Amino acid sequence: MSFSFLARVVFVLQLALAVYGNPTRTTRLPSLYLCSDSTASNYDPQTTVIQGFGYYLHDYLSIPVHNLARAGRSTRSFQNQGLWAQLLAMVVPGDFVVIEMGHNDNGTPGTGGDVGKDRAVLPGVGEETIVVQNTTGGTGSETVYTFGHYLRGMIKDVRKRGGIPVLSGMVPTMAWTNGTLQTSWPFTEWARQTAESERTGFIDHTEYSVEMFQGLGETKSLTMFPEDHTHTNAAGATVNTESFVTGIKCGRSLQTGGLSMFINHKGRTIKWKC
Ligand SMILES: *[C@@H]1O[C@H](CO)[C@@H](O)[C@H](O)[C@H]1NC(C)=O
Ligand SMILES: *[C@@H]1O[C@H](CO)[C@@H](O)[C@H](O)[C@H]1NC(C)=O
Repeated sequence: MSFSFLARVVFVLQLALAVYGNPTRTTRLPSLYLCSDSTASNYDPQTTVIQGFGYYLHDYLSIPVHNLARAGRSTRSFQNQGLWAQLLAMVVPGDFVVIEMGHNDNGTPGTGGDVGKDRAVLPGVGEETIVVQNTTGGTGSETVYTFGHYLRGMIKDVRKRGGIPVLSGMVPTMAWTNGTLQTSWPFTEWARQTAESERTGFIDHTEYSVEMFQGLGETKSLTMFPEDHTHTNAAGATVNTESFVTGIKCGRSLQTGGLSMFINHKGRTIKWKC
């Protein structure tokens, strides 16, 4: 028996082992975990007209969706309050973790409306920090970072678990001027820059959501925001679910490409151009 024959046998055996040797790995579908805020979270239809887009996401994908979005949270408070650690603990290799934040990251850390909420972050993607007094009191100081810094930490955490991090641009609020909806949102641009610098996936949820609401027009769109300019009813949430799935379909990265394999029939029939 020649060495090269033996080497080939060993190679084929190794390949077979890699493909068939780990049934839990190869037969298990990945899950999608969604980390976001009130614009995505689940509401009980019996008690409120408000609904988040994550509520309908499972209708459009062929993999399990775990909507762990929590109202009022930012990249900072989702982590400080232990919600991120709970999410990470569920992630196994191959799972997707989509992070769409921004609405509550806005503000000035430690002052004004941030007192009692402890959720505002510094703008941008740099490494500057600020030390603030947070509600925990006691010695009371917390170092607060930029939006990009918090996102980079979350990307690293997901990768450490063998998961696939994907950032997503936040959905717009109803900021209309003379019939035109605001198209550019700073937190979306910082998420996009972070996805690029960390070489991970980015879903341009903002772009497709703005396009879809713009297509419906101001008057019709506002009927889908019955309480304020941020929170959708079921119809508005459906627009945001479909714009999210469109963002997956239109994504150009390896990660969004991996996710697009799991768009089901309903998801594939959404009519919207990239
Ligand atoms: C306050 O800051 C500390 C870190 O210094 C952090 O552990 C704690 O979670 C923060 N409290 C809140 C309410 O965010
Ligand atoms: C909106 O329309 C009003 C009235 O036509 C005009 O005065 C104003 O400049 C417009 N605003 C913008 C931002 O285009």
